[in-house]
Amino acid sequence: MNKDIVCSGIRPTGNLHLGNYFGALRNFVKMQDEFQCFFFIADYHSLTTHPTPENLYNNARQILVEYLAAGLDPEKSTIYLQSDLPETIELYLFLNMNAYLGELERVTSFKDKVRQQPNNVNAGLLTYPTLMAADILIHKATKVPVGKDQEQHLEMTRTFAGRFNNMYKHEVFPLPQAYNFGNDLVKIPGLDGSGKMGKSEGEGNAIFLNDEPGVIRKKIMRAKTDSGPTEMNQTKPIEIENLFTLLKVVSSPETVEYFDDLYNRCQVRYGDLKKQLAEDMVNFTQPFRERIAELSSNEEYLKRIMDQGKEKAHESARRTIDEVRHVIGYRN
Ligand code: TRP
Repeated sequence: MNKDIVCSGIRPTGNLHLGNYFGALRNFVKMQDEFQCFFFIADYHSLTTHPTPENLYNNARQILVEYLAAGLDPEKSTIYLQSDLPETIELYLFLNMNAYLGELERVTSFKDKVRQQPNNVNAGLLTYPTLMAADILIHKATKVPVGKDQEQHLEMTRTFAGRFNNMYKHEVFPLPQAYNFGNDLVKIPGLDGSGKMGKSEGEGNAIFLNDEPGVIRKKIMRAKTDSGPTEMNQTKPIEIENLFTLLKVVSSPETVEYFDDLYNRCQVRYGDLKKQLAEDMVNFTQPFRERIAELSSNEEYLKRIMDQGKEKAHESARRTIDEVRHVIGYRN
């Protein structure tokens, strides 16, 4: 067994979409067989945007269901709720003592938030990277599967880890690296002509794993297109390229080639392309919908998984926090 420890989490902000699946989840699933994995639901991080208690609970539960539906296996990985692991907060406090205002203020995601929500620039947002570092370091993880947008946070995790090791003259933490299994992170584009599938990009831009077939068809039929190619073999504009990218993900190579060929001969009919894409998308997501429905109604099973994850995560976290406390000088 490979000695690397993998840790990653997703902030529960609603249902997972195809972008989450191809950008993260599918990688998690592949890593389970090779590494010791910790996958958690980042429901402390959620608080930076002040969800209602109902939303916090329901979103976290939904992510669990969708983690499992996507193939995360509680027998192979430790799957847990961040808020079930208070050791994380203790480490967060310790790391915050050596996290500097200047470096936290320079983080791109923080600067974005300041621009987006100038009336809610709370300290939790500022210290988002220290909490994330605590998530990772609490298990001494060495590999962290994350998308490009998280790389700066991971860089800070290494900074905090190295600083701690130096300050206390103990190699307590390894320096974790971003990791993508087999380098096959697929970036899924949005349906609105934007580069990225995401929730914040607006209703209709994303296909969610539990969207009903009717909803999927509607969204795809409304996807942005142009008025069609006018020259043979011309380069596709972004919104058309996006549709082909989605087609590549859910359809057969023959289907992609068929429409690509029509496009290149200026004979493509977007209505036909979209119909095909919608049907293939419905088929692709069908197993997710089925498993989501099945798991959603199995309260007892979900609770058992959460309890089991909590216990396994706790064991790992306890070891680290005991060592950290000792090294810092708490010797009681
Ligand atoms: N910041 C990550 C995101 O928004 C979620 C996250 C929180 C995370 N803690 C983490 C990811 C630790 C990897 C490791 O997507």
